[in-house]
Amino acid sequence: MKRLSIPIILLFFFWNSVNGQPMNSQLSHKVDSVLQTMSLTDKVGEMTQLTIDMLIEDIQEEPHQLDPDKLREVLVEYRVGSILNVSGHAYPLEQWHHIIRQIQEVATSEKPTGIPVLYGIDTIHGANYTMNSTLFPQQIGLAATFNRELVREGARIAAYETRASWIPWTFSPVLGIGRDPRWPRFWETFGEDVLLASELGVAMVEGFQGEDPANAYRVAASAKHYLGYSLPASGHDRTVAWIPEIRLREYVLPSFKAAIDAGALTVMINSGEINGVPVHASRKLLTDLLRDELGFRGLAVSDWQDIHYLYTRHKVAKDYKEAIKMAVNAGVDMSMVPLDLDFPRLLKELVEEGEVPMERIDESVRRILRVKFLLGLFDKPYHPDTDYSEFGSDEFISAAYQSAAESITLLKNENDILPLSKNSNILVTGPTANSIIHLNGGWSRTWQGDDPQYNTPGKQTILEAIRANAGNGKVTYAEGTGINEDINIDAAVSAASAADVAVICIGEAPYTETPGDIGSLALPEPQRRLVREISATGTPVVLVLVEGRPRVINDIEPVADGILMAYLPAEEGGRATADILFGDVNPSGNLPFTYPRYVNDLVPYDHNYTDEVGPLGFNPQWPFGHGLSYTTFAYRNLTVSNSTFGPGEQLTISVEVTNIGRRSGKEIVQLYVSDHVASVTPPVKRLRGFDKISLEPGQQKTVSFTISAKDLAFVGRDLKKVTEPGDFRIQISDLEQTVTYRE
Ligand code: BGC
Repeated sequence: MKRLSIPIILLFFFWNSVNGQPMNSQLSHKVDSVLQTMSLTDKVGEMTQLTIDMLIEDIQEEPHQLDPDKLREVLVEYRVGSILNVSGHAYPLEQWHHIIRQIQEVATSEKPTGIPVLYGIDTIHGANYTMNSTLFPQQIGLAATFNRELVREGARIAAYETRASWIPWTFSPVLGIGRDPRWPRFWETFGEDVLLASELGVAMVEGFQGEDPANAYRVAASAKHYLGYSLPASGHDRTVAWIPEIRLREYVLPSFKAAIDAGALTVMINSGEINGVPVHASRKLLTDLLRDELGFRGLAVSDWQDIHYLYTRHKVAKDYKEAIKMAVNAGVDMSMVPLDLDFPRLLKELVEEGEVPMERIDESVRRILRVKFLLGLFDKPYHPDTDYSEFGSDEFISAAYQSAAESITLLKNENDILPLSKNSNILVTGPTANSIIHLNGGWSRTWQGDDPQYNTPGKQTILEAIRANAGNGKVTYAEGTGINEDINIDAAVSAASAADVAVICIGEAPYTETPGDIGSLALPEPQRRLVREISATGTPVVLVLVEGRPRVINDIEPVADGILMAYLPAEEGGRATADILFGDVNPSGNLPFTYPRYVNDLVPYDHNYTDEVGPLGFNPQWPFGHGLSYTTFAYRNLTVSNSTFGPGEQLTISVEVTNIGRRSGKEIVQLYVSDHVASVTPPVKRLRGFDKISLEPGQQKTVSFTISAKDLAFVGRDLKKVTEPGDFRIQISDLEQTVTYRE
């Protein structure tokens, strides 16, 4: 017999990796040994996910209690493998413990297979469905930090607090690309750039899962919503997208591929349809691309009710049974049903009738069991003896504060209106000035995030934080307007006349999904009127934008001296905003999207040359990557290691950055590359590297990036990635160099 060397034996018996997906023969063996014991009823039950509403005794009765009969029906009779969500609002830790203990006890001791339940939840910006957890800025704000470490650390903390709630699976991150601000979930993305979304997505997956997702402080991530959800043609949530494959591969796929390569254990499927095919019915996307090409080995869960929607909305199936057949045969592993028990019953019939092959079922069940093993659920379905005392700790809160402080982006600062003197008389006004829910946005304690009764006590609104920070000056407050209505603009205007400066906090009310669809991106007129009338008093105006997507403000931008983009910075965002207004913190966020000037002119930074033809040209309010500081950074000596390069060769690009101002600050160094000529019309530029550095006054640092031909590749006419020979312009800040690629 051929002798295997020790390293090969180790490789065989222990971890190795296919596309970052752990592959382990012991694990396969464990999975198979459970699978062998399972009946068809057990298997279709495993593939079923129900919402917790299905288990609650009486939803009107607080605190919610599980109904033992429903629990037994769902888990013992139907063998349901996964439960999700909260019923209406966040629960305290103790209530989660009570609920999860009951579920897992019934699953492991009364269900015939004893397989633990995989509980999943939307931990979107912290463990937002657990009361008093630490809330981080929403993803669009995290993107503005351009800080991989902050994103990884935020996800680690979110994982800690989710596992502290005894829940091992989050439906996060959103990896759809945010290139259309009309879409109401724009703020759940990392913005419009492919590289930024891919790198921050990887950081988030790593923060959630760590080295070992079975660890009592980690959770499984879910890369969602695979694929193309963020680009509906109408801008409305869950509607039709038309995405040619060349574009899908260039802009939509890379962030998912990166997360899968980083080991994301699950993906959630896009509710929408692409090119006339609902993604839940697309074998091409769910099997050929996701499995065969990307090598994804984890589980693919449907989104909410999406198999139902195949016949009720998309009309590609005549009834529920046909829809189930389509979805499961296409590659859906688990159905987020989530409100009835017909799915397992009908799926069982389909298998018995030979309409869904048993191998397809076994494949999905294997994937589900594998995730349950990798999360350690078979050893410990929850962790009653683990110390979770850091939950909501000062350390966690300061990480959330830091993320908010690094996200807030200074868009305009005429005549150095900012920072404000602590001794000035300040009017604070506007609909987002004195509200925590507006800072939080959707997915905050409730789905829509619009119910202040679940707020964590003691958090400061922008107004409260300004009051707490102001020195001898006087702070007055007048509400002015709601989001859509004049409350008392006149009172705000007369208060403004007596103030040295007016801080006007405008923006959006919380929303997510379909309720966030809007008819116009323009900021509602009453808010714009508030700004115009205050500015007419002659008092300088500072705008704070608390909004999940860029609302068009071209008529009021000229009358504002200072503009801060706060995004949805969450509960620590009030403090962070005030600290930036007063200069205790130097702003260092950069826009992760192009801020449009006109509602009909939504062109991202990496558009093509022909997009600039015509009277409008490319004329956004502010471009992607824009963000000012209270200090000044000078860029010098852009050098490239070689003026030519070939396949397999690397280029090192360096630049010197000096803080020539008087305050310490952070700068996001952005490397852009433009392909001069290409066989597929090239974009004017693409972000190919970024780094965030900290500089004291007078300090200089050299920032270097290493790139090779594959970093400059694009998806060619044959849908394969290619780097074509020719010249490339390399640009950092306003410095440029040209390099030539030779094959
Ligand atoms: C959303 C998902 C979410 C799921 C579970 C759906 O409506 O599209 O993003 O994870 O609900 O709450």
